[in-house]
Amino acid sequence: MPIHIVVGTQFGDEGKGKITDFFSESVDAVVRYQGGTNAGHTVVANNTKFRFHLLPSGIFQGKKCFIGAGACIEPFSLKKEINEVKKVGIKPKLVVDFRTHIIMPYHILLDKEIESSKNSIGTTKKGIGPCYADRALRQGIRFFDILDKKRLRERLEKVLPEKIVFLKAKKIGFDFTLESLLKKYSLIGEKLKVFAGDASKKISSLLEAEKKVLFEGAQGTFLDNDFGTYPFVTSSHPIAGSIFTGTGLGLTHVNRVTGVIKAYTSRVGEGPFPTELNGKIAEFIREKGKEYGTTTGRPRRIGWLDMPMLRTSNRFNGFTDIALTKIDVLSELKKVRYCSEYELNGERLLEMPSNLELLSECKPVYKKVKSFKLKGTEKSFSELDVNARKYINLIEKELKTRVKLVSIGPDRKQTILR
Ligand code: IMP
Repeated sequence: MPIHIVVGTQFGDEGKGKITDFFSESVDAVVRYQGGTNAGHTVVANNTKFRFHLLPSGIFQGKKCFIGAGACIEPFSLKKEINEVKKVGIKPKLVVDFRTHIIMPYHILLDKEIESSKNSIGTTKKGIGPCYADRALRQGIRFFDILDKKRLRERLEKVLPEKIVFLKAKKIGFDFTLESLLKKYSLIGEKLKVFAGDASKKISSLLEAEKKVLFEGAQGTFLDNDFGTYPFVTSSHPIAGSIFTGTGLGLTHVNRVTGVIKAYTSRVGEGPFPTELNGKIAEFIREKGKEYGTTTGRPRRIGWLDMPMLRTSNRFNGFTDIALTKIDVLSELKKVRYCSEYELNGERLLEMPSNLELLSECKPVYKKVKSFKLKGTEKSFSELDVNARKYINLIEKELKTRVKLVSIGPDRKQTILR
C-alpha cells in the first residue's frame, strides 16, 4: 500500500507545510489525521500567501484532500479557508469524516480559562484540549450532528446543561443559549454538508486501487499526548502511528515515513527544552528563521539541534528518510553547536528520558559544527558548502537514516533532493 507519512520530529514548526506541499505534487491524495486549528502553515499559491490551519496543503494542487476522524474542526474557520481557496479559482476536492469532532464555543472559553490559571501550559487557546476531552468523555459534538438539526438538538440537550453550570460556576461570561447554538451550528452544517463523507472508507478505496496517499502530520512528536513531554503537550497524537486511529485504516503497509527535522530546535509554549538558548544567537535565529507562531504570533523559543531527542523521535516514528529544513538559517553563524548526548548524574544518555523530572535535570553535551555559508541558490547536494554537507552527514550518521531532502529557503525551488 503506497502510504507516505510526513511527520514532525521535534516540537512542531519544523517546516512540514513546505515539505508536504513539495511531496503533494506526486501523490493522488493528502490526509490530515490529527489536531485542529492549533496547527498553522503558510502556503504561497497563485501569488497569494495563505495561512491555513485545517486544510491539507494538497488542496492547491487540485488533489483529493481528507480530514480524518482523529482531527477536530472549528467549522467557521474551515468555511473561511474553503472560501479563500475558492476565491483564487480552486475548487476544493475535500472530504471531512462524519466522525470528526467539532470545536464548540465553550471549548474555547474553557481553554482560555485554564490558560489564565496557574495550570497554564501555553496552549494556542483554540479549544483543542477541551474538545478532545469531551471526545474521551463521550460528550462531544461530531460533524454528523451538525448536519441534522434534530440530532444536534438531542446532542446539545444532553451535553450543554453541564457546560453551562460549569461556565456559571467559574463566572466565565458567555453569550449563547441552546437555541442560538442550534441555529448557528445547523446553518454552518448545512453549508459544509457537501464536504461531509466517510473519509476512512474513501481513503481505503484509494489505497486498494494502489493510489499514492500522503499523510500530513500536524504539531510534532514531543507534543504527542502520550509520548511527548506531558503535560506540556497537545491533546492529539502527532506521531506516525496515529494515522491508523486518526483515519480508521487497517494496519496496511506504510512504505515511507519522512521525519521532518529543522536544523535547530524551536518550541512554543511551556515545557522542558534541554538545548534552549537565550541571548544574541537565539535572537538571530528567531529573526532570520521568522520563528513566530503562525496561529498565535508568539515568539518561539530557540535551541540547538538535539540528537537524544531525535533518536527517540526516530524510535517512535520509524523514519525511512529525513527532510532537513531551514539549514540556511544557520548560514554564516560563527558558532553552531549540536547536542550529541545528555549527561545525567555522571552518566551519558543517548535518548531522552521518559520521566519529565529526569529530563529537566539532563545537561546537554555539545559538539561544535564548523560554520558554513549558503547562497540559497544551490541546486544539488554537491554544490552546498562542504561544512554544511558535513553537518548533514553527521545527522545521517547519528540517526542512521538518509537525508533525502534539504530545504535551503522558503521557496519551492530552494529544495534539494538526493
Ligand atoms: P494546544 O494544542 O493548543 O492545546 O496547545 C498545547 C501545546 O502544543 C502548546 O505548547 C502549544 O504551543 C503547542 N502547539 C499546538 N499546536 C502547535 C503547532 O502547530 N506548532 C507548535 N506548537 C504547537
